[in-house]
Amino acid sequence: MVLIFKCFLVNDSARVALSTLSHTENDTRLKKLFQRDALVVDMRTVVGITGASGTVYGLRLLECLPGEKTVVVSDDAATVAGHETGMSRQDIEGLADESYGNDDMAAPIASGSAAFDAMVIAPCSTSTMSKIACGISDNLITRAAAVALKERRTLVLLIRETPLSAIILRNMQTLSEAGVVIMPASPAFYPRPSRVEEMVDFVVGRVLDQLGIENDLYLRWSGDEAPDEDQ
Ligand SMILES: Cc1cc2nc3c(=O)[nH]c(=O)nc-3n(C[C@H](O)[C@H](O)[C@H](O)COP(=O)(O)O)c2cc1C
Repeated sequence: MVLIFKCFLVNDSARVALSTLSHTENDTRLKKLFQRDALVVDMRTVVGITGASGTVYGLRLLECLPGEKTVVVSDDAATVAGHETGMSRQDIEGLADESYGNDDMAAPIASGSAAFDAMVIAPCSTSTMSKIACGISDNLITRAAAVALKERRTLVLLIRETPLSAIILRNMQTLSEAGVVIMPASPAFYPRPSRVEEMVDFVVGRVLDQLGIENDLYLRWSGDEAPDEDQ
C-alpha cells in the first residue's frame, strides 16, 4: 500500500492522490507519511556554491536533494571547482533545475516574493559568510541569503576554513543568533570511512538532516557499535 502511494510522488499527482486518500482511507499513519513525502517532493531549495575548498559538497548536495533545485555558482567557486573536480560552471549548473549568474540581481530568488523554502551555501567561504553576517547583499548568493534571513526561512552555511580568526568566529555567532545553521564541513570518523566519498556523504547527510530530509547517506551512531577485533 505504502509503495503504491509512494509511486505517485515522482510526479505532480501527489496532492491529488493525497485528497483521494483522505476520502477513502482512514489510515492516519499512512496519511502523515504521505503528506511529509509530498512536502519534500515539493520543496524548493536554493544552493549557493562559493569559492571555499570543497566544491564536491555542493555537487553531492545537488545530486541528493529532492524537489526543485536552483543553483548559483560564484566566480571563485567556478575557479576552485576547476581545480578540485575538473567541472565547469556549466557542468555544475546542469545538476540543478535552474541556475542564475551571481551578478543577476534581477533573478526571482533576489526577492522575498520568490517562494523558496530553504537555502544552503555549500561550500560557504568565510568571505560570503561574513558578508551575510554584516547584511551585505552585493551578489545573488548574499542577496538570496539575506532574503532567506528576513523571510525566516531555513538557511544553512557549510563553512570550510581552518583555523578560524576571532572575526570569523564573531560573524558565525551573529548568524547563529539570527537563526542561521552554521555547519563546519567536518566529517566524523566513527563510521570508519575508507573513501573520500563516504566522508563527503557524512557531511551532506547532516545537511539534509537540517532540511528535514530523510536520508541514509551516512551510518548513524547507534551507541552499540564495537570495533572489530582484528582492526
Ligand atoms: C584553491 C582555493 C581554495 C580556497 N579555499 C578557501 C576555503 O577553504 N575557505 C575560504 O573561506 N576561502 C577559500 N578560498 C578563498 C575564496 O575563494 C575567496 O575568499 C573568494 O573571494 C570567495 O568569494 P565567494 O565567496 O564570492 O566565492 C580559496 C581560494 C582558492 C583559490
